[in-house]
Amino acid sequence: MTKMKKVVVIGGTGLIGSKAVKLLQDAGHEAVTASSRNGINAYTGEGLAEVLAGADAVIDVSNMMSFDKAIITDFFGKSSRNLTIAERAAGVRHHVVLSIVNADHLAANPYMAGKIAQEEAVAASGQAYTIVRATQFHEFIETLVGTYSADGAVKVPDIDFQPIAADEVAAALVEAALGEPKAGSVDLAGPERGPFESFIGTYLDAKGDTRPVNADAAVDYFGAPVVTGSLVPGGDYIKGAVTIAEWLRA
Ligand SMILES: NC(=O)c1ccc[n+]([C@@H]2O[C@H](COP(=O)([O-])OP(=O)(O)OC[C@H]3O[C@@H](n4cnc5c(N)ncnc54)[C@H](OP(=O)(O)O)[C@@H]3O)[C@@H](O)[C@H]2O)c1
Repeated sequence: MTKMKKVVVIGGTGLIGSKAVKLLQDAGHEAVTASSRNGINAYTGEGLAEVLAGADAVIDVSNMMSFDKAIITDFFGKSSRNLTIAERAAGVRHHVVLSIVNADHLAANPYMAGKIAQEEAVAASGQAYTIVRATQFHEFIETLVGTYSADGAVKVPDIDFQPIAADEVAAALVEAALGEPKAGSVDLAGPERGPFESFIGTYLDAKGDTRPVNADAAVDYFGAPVVTGSLVPGGDYIKGAVTIAEWLRA
């Protein structure tokens, strides 16, 4: 029988965090929902020592949406330093953090610069860690549609896309947290790779949105220039099973 573990989910009230908490609880583990509204703040350090006492692992899926590079790099860098220092003090065995596939090649996107700061802080911390880098979630496509909409059409970068269901991201994080630290990163992507515009088209069709969708090589990804493989894994990766069509039906 697997030993019951205490796992603290930083950002446990969010999209991925709430799914990770439920998966851990369903498997009989003690999952702690940690977030700033619950008095546990990775950025200020509030409540960390108390919540980490007796924990085996931490899953960090906290988030801040900003496209101000200074603000976002400070948020992710400082939060990761606070967490890993507090984890080492408490004797926590494993820090797992969710990042984004190819973040390190997309530094001109301020949000990605934040994720790079997060990864670097974790790797330099001396704490045992695993970085799980996922592609964009199916759930994020709505935001992408909003970003790329103009003049009655949707114009997206001319690149490949391989989105994944948030449920599968949460499951991979839980598996990582219950396993051994990798002292490196693993990539995670959805089951289908194809042109960005085809996924957007499938999404709009399901919503009854008849706007045209076009790919344009001049369109960037939130400030970062992109090429065909910019958002998809370049090597080995864990492949999810839920297609966008299945996710839309569910
Ligand atoms: N969207 C994508 O396609 C995608 C792809 C790959 C990776 N990711 C990564 O996935 C991660 C999780 O995203 P998500 O969509 O699940 O986020 P989300 O729904 O926005 O949830 C963010 C969580 O962070 C908590 N939080 C914010 N500031 C905090 C702080 N200072 N201390 C503790 N908790 C804090 C929030 O709770 P409170 O409000 O209570 O603080 C909330 O629980 C992000 O790091 C993102 O970079 C996203």
